[in-house]
Amino acid sequence: GEIGLMTYNKPLIEQTAEFVRQQLAGAEAGHDWWHIHRVWNNVKLILQHEQADHQICELAALLHDIADSKFHGGDESLGPKVAGEFLSRLHVQEDSIQHVQAIILHMSYKASLGDVAFHSKELEIVQDADRLDAIGAIGIARAFHYGGFKNRELYNPEIVPNLRQDKETYKNSTAPTLNHFYEKLLLLKDKMNTNAAKQIAEERHAFMERYLEQFYREWEGY
Ligand code: ADP
Ligand code: NI
Repeated sequence: GEIGLMTYNKPLIEQTAEFVRQQLAGAEAGHDWWHIHRVWNNVKLILQHEQADHQICELAALLHDIADSKFHGGDESLGPKVAGEFLSRLHVQEDSIQHVQAIILHMSYKASLGDVAFHSKELEIVQDADRLDAIGAIGIARAFHYGGFKNRELYNPEIVPNLRQDKETYKNSTAPTLNHFYEKLLLLKDKMNTNAAKQIAEERHAFMERYLEQFYREWEGY
């Protein structure tokens, strides 16, 4: 009928956004629809300064946390699988589907610590967009939210940050949330791929440094 036809004709990106929003209903706030929405916006911002396939970037941004391995028993293949099935239903070209799947698989921070088996401009852009959402005021909110979700301490002056960056240490860390700043958040600025993201990251990084300074002042009672 007509309604079915209208649904079918809705632009791919719009349909994908609707699908993701439904899939992530009730998701933990650090990885919910609004995280996706912010990353999608970051992608569009970066694309104003970079040459890349917009459709691939937007699809990958929308689908990158569709089934985060952290919440699915460490299974890193589930996200690409769910995304691929969805895009196949919408008759997206097979090579585009594979590109989006490769981006999702290689985007996680853990993957970036290991061997890089795949590379593309589109991956760089979506990765930057996701990393930008992990720093600055929002990054701070997400870190403490995640720490609360995991029942971590805010800070413990007796527990020195573990700066080892191998996958196992990172995955098994039960350290206070403030340690996460030293183990990851303060390092992200220098991991940005694109110039646009580097610039945005500078400001957000400086804000985190000011935040930490104030945090310690308050902790010490001035
Ligand atoms: P990525 O998006 O690179 O996969 P994660 O999924 O590990 O990164 O992290 C998502 C969000 O949760 C980020 O904002 C990150 O800072 C936060 N987070 C992850 N691990 C921790 C942790 N150990 N302590 C505090 N926040 C964390
Ligand atoms: Ni993400």
